[in-house]
Amino acid sequence: MKGVVLAGGLGSRLRPLTAVTNKHLLPVYNQPMIYYPIQTLVNAGIEDIMIVTGGNSAGDFLKLLGNGKAFGLKHLNYTYQEGEGGIADALALAEHFAAGQPLCIVLGDNIIEGNIHRAVRAYRHQGGGAKILLKKVTDPQRFGVPEIEGKRVLRIEEKPSAPKSDYAVIGVYMYDAQVFDIVRTLKPSARGELEITDVNNAYIERDEMTWDELDGWWTDAGTFESLLHASNLVAETGANKVEVIDAAKA
Ligand code: DAU
Repeated sequence: MKGVVLAGGLGSRLRPLTAVTNKHLLPVYNQPMIYYPIQTLVNAGIEDIMIVTGGNSAGDFLKLLGNGKAFGLKHLNYTYQEGEGGIADALALAEHFAAGQPLCIVLGDNIIEGNIHRAVRAYRHQGGGAKILLKKVTDPQRFGVPEIEGKRVLRIEEKPSAPKSDYAVIGVYMYDAQVFDIVRTLKPSARGELEITDVNNAYIERDEMTWDELDGWWTDAGTFESLLHASNLVAETGANKVEVIDAAKA
């Protein structure tokens, strides 16, 4: 399984912080924002990683990350998204890199307290299709929101005014190689973007979507409020924690 961090787009909601630099290079407490999603993949045992960057200061990613030494990696792959065509538009740029293998996608502004190790393992056993991760939130209107019935997700709505649950679809997605054919069928939404929610709904219609609930806190960092919240959470409790397996008890 390969990993992709989506760090394109223009970060318009964070202007003027993003007027000359890229949103994903901004600090979240003591690390650049992009460190967290990369660590999320590495902690899940995914080491073949591509960064989709875009907008301002794209060259600075190379300067900052190089070949991923800070994460114990030997190599990192990069590509560039022009404009702000949406999350699914950025994902489409990873087709050549994926080379038919399943992918774990992490949005570049999503930060988690724990890890996604178990969900990735479950997806590997699933043998195809897609998996999303959900988290209960107090403000679902800001996110993709699922309508769920037991272990089935019936449909996802993007930023609904009347959410059908108090779950958000977090920015961690697992897909098989069909995802690129699905992206090719998408039409831009009212906000002019190719929506990841439309990709997820296509998998739901094929009855090939599963979901798990994420343990620990989760936040995005794409608005002033959530950026501050993310820094505070990281300062208070730390992020990207891994379970320490007690060898004596194992
Ligand atoms: O954070 C989770 C939410 O992320 C989901 O619940 C929503 O369903 C999903 O649409 C997304 O919502 P946002 O509106 O918050 O996404 P945003 O435009 O802030 O983009 C999130 C990240 O995706 C951004 O940090 C980089 C990447 N991205 C985004 C766009 C629009 C790209 O790489 N290229 C893009 O064109």
